Amino acid sequence: MHIVHTIAELRAHLSPFKRPAFVPTMGNLHDGHIALVKQANPLGDVTVSSIFVNRLQFAPNEDFESYPRTLDADAQRLEAAGCNLLFAPREKELYPEPQTYKVHPATDLSDMLEGHFRPGFFIGVSTVVLKLFSCVYAGMPSGVAAFGKKDYQQVLVVRRMVRQFALPIDILAGETQRAEDGLALSSRNAYLNPAERIEAAQLAKALKALGEAARTCNTPDLAALEAQAMQALARRGWKPDYLTVRRRADLLPPQGPLASEPLVILGAAKLGNTRLIDNFEI
Ligand code: PAF
Repeated sequence: MHIVHTIAELRAHLSPFKRPAFVPTMGNLHDGHIALVKQANPLGDVTVSSIFVNRLQFAPNEDFESYPRTLDADAQRLEAAGCNLLFAPREKELYPEPQTYKVHPATDLSDMLEGHFRPGFFIGVSTVVLKLFSCVYAGMPSGVAAFGKKDYQQVLVVRRMVRQFALPIDILAGETQRAEDGLALSSRNAYLNPAERIEAAQLAKALKALGEAARTCNTPDLAALEAQAMQALARRGWKPDYLTVRRRADLLPPQGPLASEPLVILGAAKLGNTRLIDNFEI
């Protein structure tokens, strides 16, 4: 596997190829990222991953500075997973000047849920993803890019961006990988202390229970069920931002009978200083 730090080197290495399979990441890789690399592998003629902690998607009070940076270990894992090329740009390479041109995704999708609790987050994500796409796919007839479903809303935002800008890129959404107790794998799990790590599995349990309750009530009062689910987590010491039942297609609250459309239960909550997110399709 080649490791490159500049856009010019990246493009030089990609020039013999026609369909890159790309897995963008912020590093501190776990089995979820590795599963994405393995899934993406057969879908292109070269497999590329990027590691870049993108300041633009962090609010000033968030964990940009402390985000775990583990480049050497990540590179070893990527190579073992069959990745051919790792793009690990320095900040000045991707942002040589203040990024004054930004992608502002449609507010209907990006101001709710994560976008509501992390204002500007999807502007930062969309901007860096478009930039990474332009680094990887410029001049390519087509490509595929893989994102994890743990960041469910991010997948929808990226899919819509790709569609609306007519980018010749297929988006692959990989299933969330979980620890044995059900906790969704995330780079931020590294922040949890041992007691928090045990408690952390309760978020997945709460989401499953909410999904179960929504499905089994005949005419569920979703707002009441969601409030109960949040209160139950809060009683255990969590600070929930949301636990909610939404339509998979646009993340709006379901309009008709629940059985009539594919749904997803999404949640975000803080445990100690660590904010975790998770979801289940039902
Ligand atoms: O999901 C992530 O790790 C990041 O949001 C991404 C897509 C790499 C953009 O920085």
